[in-house]
Amino acid sequence: MGIRSVVRALFTVGKGVTAGMDVELVEREAGPDPLALFDRWFRDAREAGLYLPEAMTLATATPGAAPSARMVLLKSFGPDGFVFYTNYDSRKAAELDANPHAALVFHWATLHRQVRVTGSVERTTREESEAYFRTRPRGSRIAAWASNQSGILRDREEIERRFREKEAEFAGGDVPLPPFWGGYRLTPEAIEFWQGRVNRTHDRLVFMRGAGEWTVKRLSP
Ligand SMILES: Cc1cc2nc3c(=O)[nH]c(=O)nc-3n(C[C@H](O)[C@H](O)[C@H](O)COP(=O)(O)O)c2cc1C
Repeated sequence: MGIRSVVRALFTVGKGVTAGMDVELVEREAGPDPLALFDRWFRDAREAGLYLPEAMTLATATPGAAPSARMVLLKSFGPDGFVFYTNYDSRKAAELDANPHAALVFHWATLHRQVRVTGSVERTTREESEAYFRTRPRGSRIAAWASNQSGILRDREEIERRFREKEAEFAGGDVPLPPFWGGYRLTPEAIEFWQGRVNRTHDRLVFMRGAGEWTVKRLSP
């Protein structure tokens, strides 16, 4: 059954897996490469027409192990890792710079799928951040300059004023990449795929990287 019919059926019945839409995740079909499997699932989520399939929770922690989490957007992925962009002065950036380990969670609710990724994080190169920044709409590029992300604002007017100031500053010209803005790449050490199944007998396959090779284990739901 194609992913579109699965989604249509899940919307129709509302309860999905409890109503007979039992999509499985088996080792044979998952294959040996979790990035290839992620690519297939991500494509399924896009083809299903889900809103922001690239939205993911990013969890970070301070060196003292106090966690924090927020949504960010996945902008690219491949064998080297998962890339997102942000402000390098933000809270998440401070935590990542001090403790370069993070976790990502994707939830594609109507497909009854979750993907969890953990690994180490490093900044993308300036060239990579620049190439991505150029693809952003002008308003988003100006906003990147205007926002001291995670800093305290006196009121709403302050950010609107800062936006207007930056708009005027760059009027008629290019909006370059701010020095305090760019990407992070999370290199995965473990990737878990969760597929909802009937009676909560869900499938969970976790891939772990050791000495460059991926091994896979099935976890109890
Ligand atoms: C769906 C969604 C996508 C978001 N994507 C990003 C993003 O790609 N980069 C970013 O810096 N903030 C993004 N945000 C805002 C963050 O969730 C967060 O408010 C901001 O980055 C500040 O987080 P921090 O104070 O923990 O650093 C997004 C929010 C939502 C709801």
